[in-house]
Amino acid sequence: MKHLISPMDLTPEELSELLSLAQDIMKDPERYRHVCDGKKLATCFYEPSTRTRLSFESAMLNLGGSVLGFQSADSSSAAKGESVSDTIQIISYYADICAMRHPKEGAPYVASKHSRIPVINAGDGGHNHPTQTLTDLLTILELKGRLSDMTIGLCGDLKFGRTVHSLINAMVRYEGIKFILISPEELCIPAYLKEEVLDARGIPYKEVRSLDEVMPDLDILYMTRVQRERFFNEEDYIRLKNSFILTPEKMKLARDDMFVLHPLPRVNEISVEVDNDPRAAYFRQAGFGVYARMALIILMLGLKDRIPQV
Ligand code: NCD
Repeated sequence: MKHLISPMDLTPEELSELLSLAQDIMKDPERYRHVCDGKKLATCFYEPSTRTRLSFESAMLNLGGSVLGFQSADSSSAAKGESVSDTIQIISYYADICAMRHPKEGAPYVASKHSRIPVINAGDGGHNHPTQTLTDLLTILELKGRLSDMTIGLCGDLKFGRTVHSLINAMVRYEGIKFILISPEELCIPAYLKEEVLDARGIPYKEVRSLDEVMPDLDILYMTRVQRERFFNEEDYIRLKNSFILTPEKMKLARDDMFVLHPLPRVNEISVEVDNDPRAAYFRQAGFGVYARMALIILMLGLKDRIPQV
C-alpha cells in the first residue's frame, strides 16, 4: 500500500483486512501501543479540520509514534508561494508518512507523485475523503454487523460533499446496496458519479427532494452539511443551507434499527434534540475514526510484524 488518494486505491481484500485490524485494535488497544515506536506522522493541513487531523494524531500517538505538522496554509510556506510538490519533498526527510488535506482537488495526488513517503489524502476539495470513508465503513460494520444488503440515504450537499463521493465509491463494491439521494436539485451528486459509478455498475438509486417520504426505507441515513466554502456566492448558500433539518419528528418515521451518521461538523442539519436518540451514531462514528486510522497507519507503514502475538 503506497499512497491512499482515493478509496479505490484499496482492493476489497485490503479494505477488509484494514477493517478487521481496526476491530481487533478496538478490542485490545494495549497490544498496539508500541507498533509505531520511532515513527513520525506529518499532518499537512491546508484547510480547517478538527476530527480528521486530531484523530490522525491520536491514532499515531496511540501506536507509540510521534506527530508533527501544520494546521493551516497560513502557517506553512504555502503562504510564501511554495508548491505542494516542493513541500512534500522536504517533509519526506522529516517524517515516515504524511496525511494531507488541501482545498484543491488532486493536490494530495500531486504530492504523492513527488513523495518518498506514503501520502494519505485527508480530504481534497470537493473530491474525495478516503479516511472518512474508512471511518464510515467501520461504523456501519460495528453498528449493523455487515456492509452488504443495505439501503443508504445520503442527504444534504451531495454535490460538494467529498465524504459522500468517497462513500459511494466504496459502498458500490458490496452486494445488495441501494442508495437514496436526498438533496435539492442544485446540490445533487456530480454526473460522473452517476454515470461512471452508479449506472456503470447497475447500482439501484433514486433521487428525492424530501426526507420524510424515504425515512421508513433506510438502514443508514448519512447526513451532511451544506459546504459553504465551496459555493461561488453567499446568496446561494443562504438559500440552500436549511434545505434539510433532521428533527425528532422525522426520526419517528424511521425504523428502530436505522442509524444516523454524519461526518461532522454539524451546522444545523441535525437538531440537537436528535443527539439523545440511541440511533444517533455520529459522535460514536468520530470515535471509530481513530481506530480506522490506526489500522491504516500500521498497514501503510508495513508494521504488521511488530504487532505482538497473543
Ligand atoms: C468532512 C470534510 O472535511 O469533508 N469533515 C470531516 O473530515 N469529518 C465533512 C465536512 O466538512 O462537512
